[in-house]
Amino acid sequence: MSQITAIVLAAGKGTRMKSSKAKVLHSLAGKPMVEHVLDAVKKAGIEQQIVVVGHQAEEVKAHLGDGYTYVLQEKQLGTGHAVKQTTNAWPSHGRTLLILCGDTPLVTAETLEKLVSYHHHHEAVCTVLTAVVPDPTGYGRIIRNQQGHVTAIVEEKDATDAQKEIKEINTGCYCFDQNRLAEALEQLSPANAQGEYYLTDVISFFQQQGHVVAGVEVRDFRELQGINNRSQLAQAEAILRERINEALMLSGVTIVSPHNTYIDAGVQVGRDTVIMPNTHLRGNTKIGENCEIGPDTTIINSSVGSGTVINNSVIKESNIGNNCTIGPFSYLRPGTRLADNVKIGDFVEVKKSVIGKGSKIPHLTYIGDAEIEEQVNVGAGTITCNYDGKNKWKTVLKKGAFIGSNTNLVAPVTVGDNAVVGAGSTITKDVPADSLAVARERQRNILGWATKNKKET
Ligand code: UD1
Ligand code: CA
Repeated sequence: MSQITAIVLAAGKGTRMKSSKAKVLHSLAGKPMVEHVLDAVKKAGIEQQIVVVGHQAEEVKAHLGDGYTYVLQEKQLGTGHAVKQTTNAWPSHGRTLLILCGDTPLVTAETLEKLVSYHHHHEAVCTVLTAVVPDPTGYGRIIRNQQGHVTAIVEEKDATDAQKEIKEINTGCYCFDQNRLAEALEQLSPANAQGEYYLTDVISFFQQQGHVVAGVEVRDFRELQGINNRSQLAQAEAILRERINEALMLSGVTIVSPHNTYIDAGVQVGRDTVIMPNTHLRGNTKIGENCEIGPDTTIINSSVGSGTVINNSVIKESNIGNNCTIGPFSYLRPGTRLADNVKIGDFVEVKKSVIGKGSKIPHLTYIGDAEIEEQVNVGAGTITCNYDGKNKWKTVLKKGAFIGSNTNLVAPVTVGDNAVVGAGSTITKDVPADSLAVARERQRNILGWATKNKKET
């Protein structure tokens, strides 16, 4: 597809979203809608991509990054005007332009490939991707002649009552012969109900010139649903999530309740992993094989090895090894790295810490800025006191250390190899290897005190 340049229109404000954020930056399944469109274009093998930006141009560009040619449409005077701004960016020897809207995120690479091959095969000056929809409200209607060629596209606001009955609509996705489109764009005028330069008007111009415009219908109309408001955004997101879950299930992942499982585009999950209800796998997340994830678990931008069980927990920007068990009710915050066979139990919070192979933190603990080596046991209620109000300090627990319950580890502090800390200690000094540290008030028993106390009151 080297001779093809894609143009994605993404300059509009999206008034109907009622938002301070540009429409194309609203996300579905973890990605802004325009990025889904660009991903489909890339997947179809089209490398040259021009993005027309306007409303919140800087935000859109910052989000999408380098790798695209951006063209600024300063005033959003319509889709035809938007395309016209791009002419200088067209390749001099280019032949075909694929034009798409940034607000149809469900479009697939297969559909784009079909459109392009239909266009080339029929040698039309333009091929419109159309859809037959149950409710065409808001879309441009496709007018065909007896040969089945497209002779015009009429926008809803300009349509007669009879034209409004037409159920075949313009999806906003087309192929054009580059040279013919350049000529046609010169002819556009804003003499219509919305006072805009409509790209769709080039079709009737081609018709007048005696050029053939083909129309090819998309198999599933839902794929080209345009998003203009938040209700449509939610509908499209549901479809996208269904697609993502379906693909994962067919690749060998068990999803117990697909309707209650929320997996972002691009998340990877290995075979024989079971995903329980109300699990959210977000962003750049990768889960290995044979894991059990959920119920009620959120994992964001993290990787999880194979054979790991995570229940009722929240994990952000962390790396988890193989055969770990996490939860219920654990919170792993950014910068946490667990080696294999680590156990993080109930009500444990871990932040920016590395935990070695086979170590256990089974209950009610806060570990922050710590380096915990292999085979360490951290008793219930242990807290790293890592913050003095100004700086964060490090706690190091060496290999085989055993921390008794309800210990405060006042950082910076190191507990040596195989050392033991007595329960209830507040450790402020390093503990040498192989020793016992006890740092608490010694217990006194006053005999008979309780009986005496009772008689007096
Ligand atoms: C457009 C089509 C309509 C089609 C529908 C499909 C026209 C005139 N109408 O209508 O036939 O059925 O899409 O979803 O083309 N944009 C710009 N600059 C502008 C105006 C729009 O970049 O000046 C971008 C928007 O960001 C958006 C896309 O073009 O991504 C479509 O614009 P929108 O206003 O949503 O067009 P529709 O009214 O939906
Ligand atoms: Ca639209």
